[in-house]
Amino acid sequence: MSYKLTALLTAAALTLGSMAVQAKDLRLGLITPPPHGWTVEAKKLGESLEAATDGKYTINVFPSGQLGNEAQMLQQLQTGALDMAFMTMAEVSNRVPNMGAFFAPYLVEDIDQAAKLLQSDAAYAILDELPGRVGVKGLGYGMAGLRQLNSTFEVDSVDDLRGKKVRITPFAPTRDFHNLLGVAATPMPLPAVYDALANGQVDAIEMDVENMVKQKFTDVAPHVILSRHMMFPMVAVVSPRTWAQMSAEEQQTLQRLTREHLVSLLEDNARLEKEWSQELREREGVTVVDVGPEFFGDAIEQWYDSWSKKAPALKSLQQEAASYR
Ligand code: BEZ
Repeated sequence: MSYKLTALLTAAALTLGSMAVQAKDLRLGLITPPPHGWTVEAKKLGESLEAATDGKYTINVFPSGQLGNEAQMLQQLQTGALDMAFMTMAEVSNRVPNMGAFFAPYLVEDIDQAAKLLQSDAAYAILDELPGRVGVKGLGYGMAGLRQLNSTFEVDSVDDLRGKKVRITPFAPTRDFHNLLGVAATPMPLPAVYDALANGQVDAIEMDVENMVKQKFTDVAPHVILSRHMMFPMVAVVSPRTWAQMSAEEQQTLQRLTREHLVSLLEDNARLEKEWSQELREREGVTVVDVGPEFFGDAIEQWYDSWSKKAPALKSLQQEAASYR
């Protein structure tokens, strides 16, 4: 081999080697299954990031809690073992009480207002508390629609639910609301819900229409109460270690693209919730009733009394939401 050819090959190998060192496959964990909107949008974010960074950054999405539950993922994010996650507020709101304010019953009138509120300065002020209190960086909010109820038995009034085992997401604001309703609130993560309904471990669940449709919860709980009683935000977070390893320009790109994809998720949610609700109405053997705040009686006011003290940011979210009416 000539000297020139050897030098050329060595230079090429060195270039490829340094590219391999620099390229970074970010691990993003979530608990939603592959067909869920959060998982689909996370994959699209990966494609956008790869294109915007000429392949330097890619995203490997781990759905269905493959990397552990949200508490475990949060720990991995803190140490840098996990780069990113799309999370419910279950874990983070335990440490950021102001995040509980998002679960105020009927804070917004509909899903379009929910999407708008999650893009407001009032909402982003709460996100800024994440690094100090949780040790992760918040990039923005998504949503899994509004909360509804889905039961194995027919429900005419909230009295029918009293004493029944109702699955809730495991965190304080939703637990408090269901305790005020007098139900036997049963905390349970999403991946356990179908089996729990099927084997009678719970009688009803608090859920969104997307999961009712896609995970076929109505096969085992055919009664749907479209109550739209609170929103269910998601928070996109990144490990501080991963963040610190990025240049300012790369941080800006990741931040911008994540927000763009979250906005698209929020818009999809607002549009599709109407279609998913209609699909449930048309499902054979499924009953659907629409209810409003009156269904829940005094529990709503009692919740506000308690949480306005626990989450001072509730006031600014209420002011923001009031400006949409
Ligand atoms: C739930 O636990 O109900 C849930 C979690 C993630 C996305 C949607 C719903």
